[in-house]
Amino acid sequence: MTTTSVPGADGAPEADAATGRPGTETPGPGPAAGERTAELRPPAGRGPVGVTVADPAGSAPGPAERLAGGPVLLGPIRRTVTLTLDGTEARVPEGTTILEALHREGTPEQADTPTLCWAPNMDPVNACRVCVVEVEGSRALVPSCARRCEDGMEVRTGTEKVRHSRRMVLELLASSVDMDRASADVQRWMGDYGVDPQRYGPPAPPAAAGERDRRHAGHHRAPDGSTRATVAQPVKIDNDLYVRDYSRCIMCYKCVNACGTDAQFTFAIAAAGRGFDARIATEHDVELPGSACVYCGNCIGVCPTGALVSVAEYDRREAGRWRPDEETVTTTICAFCGVGCNLELHVQQGEIVNVTSPADHSVAHGHLCIKGRFGFRHVQNLPEG
Ligand code: SF4
Ligand code: SF4
Ligand code: FES
Repeated sequence: MTTTSVPGADGAPEADAATGRPGTETPGPGPAAGERTAELRPPAGRGPVGVTVADPAGSAPGPAERLAGGPVLLGPIRRTVTLTLDGTEARVPEGTTILEALHREGTPEQADTPTLCWAPNMDPVNACRVCVVEVEGSRALVPSCARRCEDGMEVRTGTEKVRHSRRMVLELLASSVDMDRASADVQRWMGDYGVDPQRYGPPAPPAAAGERDRRHAGHHRAPDGSTRATVAQPVKIDNDLYVRDYSRCIMCYKCVNACGTDAQFTFAIAAAGRGFDARIATEHDVELPGSACVYCGNCIGVCPTGALVSVAEYDRREAGRWRPDEETVTTTICAFCGVGCNLELHVQQGEIVNVTSPADHSVAHGHLCIKGRFGFRHVQNLPEG
């Protein structure tokens, strides 16, 4: 089998574009000492990538030298692959996922491919499968968010098989999870795909506090058929900064990965349990104040269903004062330190109710620390007098 690979920045074979496994290409002889050559960096999804000029003698320039007349970042140089999207030819850089190709080269309908566990600033996890498409020659539907484009690939996005699969994903989730606070896009997709969770019957009563957390693998009780199983349970309120409402959790794993290798590297939460009893948990199910959580809120920032929200948002909703239609968003730069994270201040009725960060900003890539995310109370408008 022929594999396509490019050397990584350290000279090791880059992962094969089709399989994701390390390529087998043998690196050729390196440049002579002192000779300056163009070197491909891995096509990572985030951060500055592209061609730099490397000095193989070992005097690779640091960031300051690159700024001060040193080698210039020219942007990625990648082979182009040609595929068809519903019969229309598209050319994209090697390494592009099908979803990215649909976003960049597709029609508005193709670009509107539903997603739940994907985010532009995170590695794909293939947890939800709502983004599936048909690929000629592939027996199963493939997740467009993770599958990379290949030369000659024929992708179909609007077939009955695709629409049926997407509808079932959304419908089964909506039958067991409270999706009322999912994003407007998710609400629209549920309408577009004809989702009808009511056809599974009335919801079963919610679990008592902590009952789902105590379930062990293999002890799931079979439903009697009179009600539909749900993950309904009491909200967890155990700290001053954010609230966990796992009745709204679709197990997309985004929070786990934001807490782990996608952003925070704290690993305070993980998936526990199996099958329908799977849930997001802290180590030993301790409350957040006793866990490793550092309250960065990056899990809140990526949660697609409102299962994780700030206390400020939760309290406003509970008080009937949540006004998303009146919300304004002001972009600024965090003043707590010199990193320069962009902040988006969400303001309702003169009060900051949430702070987020744009996923496409090169400093923070959509993620923040506790100060940027929650340290806004000192700038709230205070009552006069
Ligand atoms: S607030 Fe930060 S540290 Fe705590 S669980 Fe969420 S991502 Fe992890
Ligand atoms: S809490 Fe939110 S981000 Fe975490 S798995 Fe559940 S739905 Fe996904
Ligand atoms: S969005 Fe692709 S698998 Fe979830």
